[in-house]
Amino acid sequence: MEQTNNTFSQKTNPRDGDNTSIWQPGPVDLAEQDRQPPVEQVYDVLVVGGGITGITTALLLQQQNKKVVVAEAHLVGFGTTGGTSAHLNTFFDATYPEIESDFGENAAKLIADAGKEVMNWINGFVNKYQINCDLETKNAYLFSENEKESKQLDEILESSQKAGIAVEKTSKNGIEVPFKQSILFKDQGQFHPLKYLKGLANEFIKAGGVLLENSFITENSYEDGIHTAKSAAFTIKAKNLVFATHLPPGINLMDFTCAPYRSYVLGVTLADEKYPDCLAYDMQEPYHYFRTHVIDRKKYLLVGGEDHKTGHDEPEKAFETLENYVRKYYNISSVDFKWSSQYYIPADGLPYIGHLPSSDENIYMATGYNGNGMIFGTLSAMILCDLICGKNNRYSELLSPTRIKPVAGFGDFVKENSDVAYRFIADRFSAEKIKSFEELPIGTGTIVNFEGEKLAAYKDEAGKISALNPVCPHAGCVVNFNPTEKSWDCPCHGGRFDLDGHVLTGPPRADLQKVI
Ligand code: FES
Repeated sequence: MEQTNNTFSQKTNPRDGDNTSIWQPGPVDLAEQDRQPPVEQVYDVLVVGGGITGITTALLLQQQNKKVVVAEAHLVGFGTTGGTSAHLNTFFDATYPEIESDFGENAAKLIADAGKEVMNWINGFVNKYQINCDLETKNAYLFSENEKESKQLDEILESSQKAGIAVEKTSKNGIEVPFKQSILFKDQGQFHPLKYLKGLANEFIKAGGVLLENSFITENSYEDGIHTAKSAAFTIKAKNLVFATHLPPGINLMDFTCAPYRSYVLGVTLADEKYPDCLAYDMQEPYHYFRTHVIDRKKYLLVGGEDHKTGHDEPEKAFETLENYVRKYYNISSVDFKWSSQYYIPADGLPYIGHLPSSDENIYMATGYNGNGMIFGTLSAMILCDLICGKNNRYSELLSPTRIKPVAGFGDFVKENSDVAYRFIADRFSAEKIKSFEELPIGTGTIVNFEGEKLAAYKDEAGKISALNPVCPHAGCVVNFNPTEKSWDCPCHGGRFDLDGHVLTGPPRADLQKVI
C-alpha cells in the first residue's frame, strides 16, 4: 500500500492516536489564560473533557453566569473532536423512519428540530464571534446502489419530510460513485473541527471560564452537595459535575447501552479536479462518507468508512480496504492523511444526554452520538446547560439516559455487544500462542504468555521490548494492540492506552500497569 505522504511535519495539536488527522497540523492557539491551580473556591460546574461537548457546555454555562472550570486530561481537541470528519447534518445515523418507528412521529420531529436548532446555533456562534473555522453550507446527498437500498431511501425521504426536514429526490449524488437513486438534503454543513473548538474555548476563557489542560481527573466524591474531583495536581470542588468523556468513568448503565466503534478516514489529493462540492453518503453497512476540505489553499478529498468495533478486526485492513474503495472511483495523486477515530453507538439509536443514572446528585453525562458527534455534542451542551440552570428543555426527556426504551434494535445491539460479557471471563484464560518475545516483529505489539503471565508486549523500532499488564483497569477485559494508531484498545468499552500504558480514552481512570 502507498505510504502516507504527510505534508506537515509538526503535530501541533496532539490527539489520541499515532496517525495524524488532517486537522492536527498548524498552530491553533488558545487565548492567554493564567493556568494556575484553581483557587480554593466551589465552582458551579466542573466539566470533565475538552472536546466539542465539554467546551460547548462550559461556554453556554459560563454565559449564564455560572462559574465553570473544564478539566481536560490532555489538550483541548485531543479526543474524537480532533479525529472527526466534521460533517454537520440534520439527518442522522438513526434514520427518521427508524426514529419514527421506535420512538414515534413526534420524536422524529423533535430530533429534526434539534438538528436544525444546532445548525442555527453553530452558524450564529461562528458569525457572532467571527470564528475562522472554514464553516460552509453544503448540499448533502444520500444515495442507494441497489433495489433494497432504494426502498429504504424512499422511506427515509418520506419520514424525513414528515419530520420537517427539507429533502427531495434528485438526479445526482455529487460524487463519482455510480448510484441508483439519490436524495438531496439542503443546508447541511462542514467545518474545521479544531479551529471551531478552539474558537469555543477562547470565548469560554474570555467569558471568565477556567480551562485546565493536562488535568486527568482520577477520582471524584460527593458530600453535602459538593463534588470533589482530583487530578495529580489539583483538587476541584463544584456543585455540578459533567462528564463529557464519551462513557462516564466507573461501571454504569452506559457500559451496557453504548458500544465503542472506530471509523477510518483518508485525506487524499486527486490527479484531476473531481473534488466534490458537497457532502455525500452511501447506504452500505458500514456506510462511506465523502467531502472536500481546503487546507492551506490545497484541496483534499476526505473519505471515511470501514467502521468496526474498537479492539476487534484489523485496523490495517480497514485502511487498505478504504483506500482500494476510493481508488475504484477516484484518481488519487497522493494519500496525505489517514487516521481513525472513536465513537459510540447507542442501543436504541439516539444519544443519552442528562443525569448519570444511579449516581450522586448533579452528575451529568452525554454519550452515544453514533457518527453525528458535532451535532449531538452541541445539542448535549444545550440540554445540559438547561438542566443545570433549572430550565425546561424540550429534548431532554426523549434523550434522557434513563428513558424507557422501545428498543426495537436492542436485540441486535445485545448480540453485537454480547462479547462484552464473554470477554470479562474468557480473556482471562486464553492467550495467543506466541512463545517468546523474539517472535514479535519490530514496531508491533501483541498479547503474549510469559512465564505464566499474560503481557501486552510491544517491540519498538530499536528492538527494545516493553510490557504492560494487559488487564484493563476499568472492568478487567484484556486489551488488543492497534497497529495503526499504536495504542492498546480495550474491546469491552473502548478504553484506550498509549504504548506506555497511559489512558488515551476513557472510561478507565487508571493506566495499564508497566511490567517491563
Ligand atoms: Fe471497560 Fe476496558 S474499557 S473493561
